[in-house]
Amino acid sequence: MNRKTYFCGMLLMVGLIIAAGCTPEKVEPVRVGTIADGEMDPANWGKIYPLEYDSWVKTKEPRPAGKSKYKKGYDTDLVTYDKLSEFPYMPLLFNGWGFGIEYNEPRGHHYMVIDQLEVDPSRLKAGGVCLTCKTPFADNMQKDMGHSYFADPFLDVHAKIPKQFQQLGASCSDCHDNKTMSPLVTRWTLKGALTQIGVNSDQTTRQERRSLVCAQCHVTYIVSKDKDMKSTAVFFPWQGSKPGNISIENIIKVIKSDPSYLEWKQNVTGFKVGYIRHPEYEFFSNNSVHSQAGVACADCHMPYIKVGANKISDHNIMSPLKNELRACQQCHPQSPQALTQQVHAIQDRTISMMNRSGYATAVSAKLFEIAHKAQAEGKVIDEKLYAKAKDLYLEALYRVIFIGAENSIGFHNPSEAGRICGDAIAFAGKCENLLRQALTKAGVDIPADINLEIKKYINERGQKKLKFRPEMEFKDPFGNQDLITPAASQGITG
Ligand code: HEC
Ligand code: HEC
Ligand code: HEC
Ligand code: HEC
Repeated sequence: MNRKTYFCGMLLMVGLIIAAGCTPEKVEPVRVGTIADGEMDPANWGKIYPLEYDSWVKTKEPRPAGKSKYKKGYDTDLVTYDKLSEFPYMPLLFNGWGFGIEYNEPRGHHYMVIDQLEVDPSRLKAGGVCLTCKTPFADNMQKDMGHSYFADPFLDVHAKIPKQFQQLGASCSDCHDNKTMSPLVTRWTLKGALTQIGVNSDQTTRQERRSLVCAQCHVTYIVSKDKDMKSTAVFFPWQGSKPGNISIENIIKVIKSDPSYLEWKQNVTGFKVGYIRHPEYEFFSNNSVHSQAGVACADCHMPYIKVGANKISDHNIMSPLKNELRACQQCHPQSPQALTQQVHAIQDRTISMMNRSGYATAVSAKLFEIAHKAQAEGKVIDEKLYAKAKDLYLEALYRVIFIGAENSIGFHNPSEAGRICGDAIAFAGKCENLLRQALTKAGVDIPADINLEIKKYINERGQKKLKFRPEMEFKDPFGNQDLITPAASQGITG
């Protein structure tokens, strides 16, 4: 499709959207009773709202394979889809802590605590704090236990959840006011973060809360550390941001503002750095076309469905590609095939930029390793060049982590994805130049192509390691054999 037909298609689409009047209708729940204050058991909420309960239970069902190009789904054999073998620059960059050992694509909400119990224990080192966006009991435990909720070992804190709820993930009480069933922000973490950007969560509109309930968990956060690297708190790095503009630049600024926000040490460079997790809300709400049009997370992930004579919000939350793009069809007239094609086109472009930025950052990381080795051998590395390079490297690294952790592969905000990856490529390229200059000045001979030793990083991953496969061998357009992986674009399966 050339630009002109694409543009005309878009105009037609906008016209149709306006003609169709795209505000989805509100569903009036069938209420058969009242829910007691503090009721935590979803089964009891389900006695009053059986249809929503039934669809919520379905988050444990396998997702159909073959519908989504990058979120491949899972079945009983392929339990989860491994991100580290999909994007082999990640095990290199994340070597040094849990994310470099096991890092999987998400599963349905039913599995959120179960997956924590199954994941490599290195991922739970931060302690009880890891339960904050998993169990509906997080708020209560944090109030009762104070500091030890954050710092105590994960399994000790997990054991404090009432037995019958120890595997329960996101539940009715996480997202709803028990009296009105209106969507409600319940977590102290998001309430605090909203206050930081001048928003009172009680004064938000219903449409805003159709996204904010998700933002309780689908956001990045910082687990601050004391001098013994014990967790002291969890909060979102939103200080200095504005509603609708929580940018990567500002998140990085917050991470860099305090050494206690640096959660791990990257092995290849030896640098203490921060981390960025699943920033869906920040990324989506930052002036994306859909958020500007007033579309909420629930509009796309909880479309209205008919159950018998009733209409409900689908609580079996999943990728829209896996349920026939029903959500999109409330507003877009195209066929599911055409819409899928559009989503995949956006994601293909993002993946290509993301891989390029990931490998460019990995090259810089290896150059730091070479520089540190040279220093250890008594060579003098120009301090100014080194400091400048380190600064540029961190700018690139945080952007690469951000875009790799955001779960829509660019779809939530395509132009922002392009901007973030483009900047990361530029920062990493500049960093590489400075380091090459510093190394040459120090008399260190460096080859044109840097060997990333990807095989080593993939194979040395502790118990949960997934062996390097020949398909992971690279074909870089610049002819650098150890740079670009075809894994993502050619679809390696777990
Ligand atoms: C209490 C925290 C929490 C809340 C609230 C929450 N999520 Fe999630 N969500 C998660 C976690 C954790 C996972 C990954 C679970 C896993 O892999 O075990 C997840 C997974 C998902 C997935 C992937 C599902 C799949 O089938 O693979 C989607 C889509 C999703 N969430 C969307 C949403 C939307 C939309 C909302 C708001 C309506 C929301 N989530 C609210 C924590 C939450
Ligand atoms: C305009 C529709 C739309 C909106 C609005 C939207 N999403 Fe998505 N979301 C998608 C699509 C499309 C994908 C890509 C799914 C795929 O590749 O299979 C996706 C992917 C995801 C995933 C990963 C799903 C998986 O299977 O791994 C999560 C989690 C998610 N979105 C959460 C959110 C949250 C939270 C919000 C609000 C901040 C949101 N989405 C807003 C359409 C939307
Ligand atoms: C991840 C957040 C989340 C969870 C968990 C959740 N809901 Fe909802 N629910 C929503 C959202 C968002 C809406 C749409 C609300 C609106 O637009 O007013 C909704 C709507 C509803 C409605 C209004 C009617 C409808 O279908 O739109 C009922 C009733 C309801 N949910 C019941 C439940 C029950 C019962 C549970 C637990 C078994 C539950 N919900 C779990 C987010 C959630
Ligand atoms: C509640 C209504 C609504 C829903 C649901 C919705 N969209 Fe949109 N979509 C819009 C509006 C409005 C625009 C903006 C048109 C414009 O102003 O250009 C848009 C724009 C787009 C664009 C072009 C802009 C961009 O970001 O690339 C694509 C592609 C798109 N939507 C795909 C989807 C897909 C796929 C889904 C389902 C996962 C979906 N939409 C769900 C209303 C919606």
